[in-house]
Amino acid sequence: MGLNYYYILKRVRQARKLVIKGTTTAGSGHPGGSFSMAEILGCMYSKFLKYDPKNPLLPDRDRLVLSKGHASPGLFSNLAVAGFFDKSEIDTLRKFGSRLQGHPDFKCPGVEFCGGSLGLGLSFSIGMALAARIDEKNHHIYTIIGDGESDEGQVWESAMAGSKFKLDNLTVLLDRNFIQQDDYTERVMPLDEELVGDDISEMWKNAARWKVGDKWRSFGWNVLEIDGHRIEQIQKAVNSALQTKGTPSIIVARTIKGKSVEHMEDNPKWHGVAPNPQIAPLIDLELDCQFLIAPSIIAGDMTNLENEVKRASHGRADFIHLDVMDGQFVPNKTFDHEKIKQLRPITSIPFDTHLMIHEPVKHVKDYIDAGCDIITVHAEVCNESSFGEIYDMLRSNEVSVGLAINPETELPPWIETFASDLDQIIVMSVVPGKSGQKYIESTHEKTQRIVKFLAEAKFEGFIEADGGVDLSNVESCFFDGARVFVGGSAIIGQKDVRIAIAEFRKKLMHARRKLLISKAHSLGGTELVNKWIDLHEVGKKKTDLLQIAKEASFV
Ligand code: DX5
Ligand code: ZN
Repeated sequence: MGLNYYYILKRVRQARKLVIKGTTTAGSGHPGGSFSMAEILGCMYSKFLKYDPKNPLLPDRDRLVLSKGHASPGLFSNLAVAGFFDKSEIDTLRKFGSRLQGHPDFKCPGVEFCGGSLGLGLSFSIGMALAARIDEKNHHIYTIIGDGESDEGQVWESAMAGSKFKLDNLTVLLDRNFIQQDDYTERVMPLDEELVGDDISEMWKNAARWKVGDKWRSFGWNVLEIDGHRIEQIQKAVNSALQTKGTPSIIVARTIKGKSVEHMEDNPKWHGVAPNPQIAPLIDLELDCQFLIAPSIIAGDMTNLENEVKRASHGRADFIHLDVMDGQFVPNKTFDHEKIKQLRPITSIPFDTHLMIHEPVKHVKDYIDAGCDIITVHAEVCNESSFGEIYDMLRSNEVSVGLAINPETELPPWIETFASDLDQIIVMSVVPGKSGQKYIESTHEKTQRIVKFLAEAKFEGFIEADGGVDLSNVESCFFDGARVFVGGSAIIGQKDVRIAIAEFRKKLMHARRKLLISKAHSLGGTELVNKWIDLHEVGKKKTDLLQIAKEASFV
């Protein structure tokens, strides 16, 4: 089974948008802590939890207890996306008589715990876990707790109880976002090593300082520590928790409060404040403009691909792009599924496999079995029926589906059948066959045209720019509408992959800021531009934003 990566990513984006819609309409609520746990909840509701939205009280369902109940918009959005109620109900958030209150309660289908008073959810979950054991039920209990919440003594009492009763049917996820109510946790009540100095938001990036896992270990828990925004790490940790017998598990998920919206990120102000309705469309656009970087390992040492995967993963790549060439569809040969199977254990980072092979329908199963998470096949070697077959095979194995076109090729007419469900489209910007070629300039215009067409066809997936993408053109590719960027020679071909990826990210961030500023200007002129820029209080974002606005003569 694949990670179902894009499926989850799209649902996480939908849920975040609903959080913004709900809190903006209500004029209050908690977006910060809803966003820090967005990927965690996305994985839970899309991958792990057993439930039936039409029968919310199904006896054998798994239970998800949101102990940090103030993040209810995050929970409600996921319940809406999962089908427990209509998405439009989010507009009733916090309204008198609504099922969706500021803190979850049982009125709302899918809610397992009336959160709000912090510190209680874990005790409640221990009761559930003990009851399941007595009743000889196999369902699992997942509990989301906050780091601010961990100031409550009852959390630690239940930590002792969980361990005493060896509750291996219980998994806690700690949303470690370092912010509580109106300040950083380490100032209010440190959970980690004492942080000295003022630049707190920088300091906790150093993982060596994270000590909260040791506290839980000393209480006898199985502790897993992850980046709580990485879908693959969440899945790996939950799977490992589910396999652990004889002790309860806790996943310490390092997260960012307000994650995905730059002005909310790491800013305590966004714990419990709703966005201004004028700003909401900008946030929506920002959520549509998240980007991913996919180093292509064939640009490295082909005799040591293991090392190339390691370099990409050390460089914090979002995907590993695997170019499979068969010497038939393209003149070159690279590697096949056997090699991918060997590379798979090296990292949990999604494998984004680009099949440049003849008759992909005959071989796709091998690539699923090799552990690929995203598989893209070429339109030139498919027709509606064979692509349909590939599509079904990938979907039923939770592998994301991509379609690629060569520089000379247009989208096939049968794209209409699949457009709304496709995950990824690669618009090749070089003639496929090898890395290190020059970007074909006409691809910009072609991508823009395709993006427009696909929007009308209700495509919600991602455009991947592949071939000759480097620091000089990655911004233009972003403006064209690409959101995933393959880098062969410009990333893997560089001495320091981590620096190369960081530079790509910097460029893309800059491009996104530019796009958002011009959107702000078109929506509300200089006033809105200034208003939006002023929201960026933490770190050095504001300087860059002001510079961009000045260059565009918007301020
Ligand atoms: C070309 C491949 C690309 C290529 C990327 O056939 O699909 O992924 O290797 O490498 P650069 O970025 O060097 O073009
Ligand atoms: Zn490729």
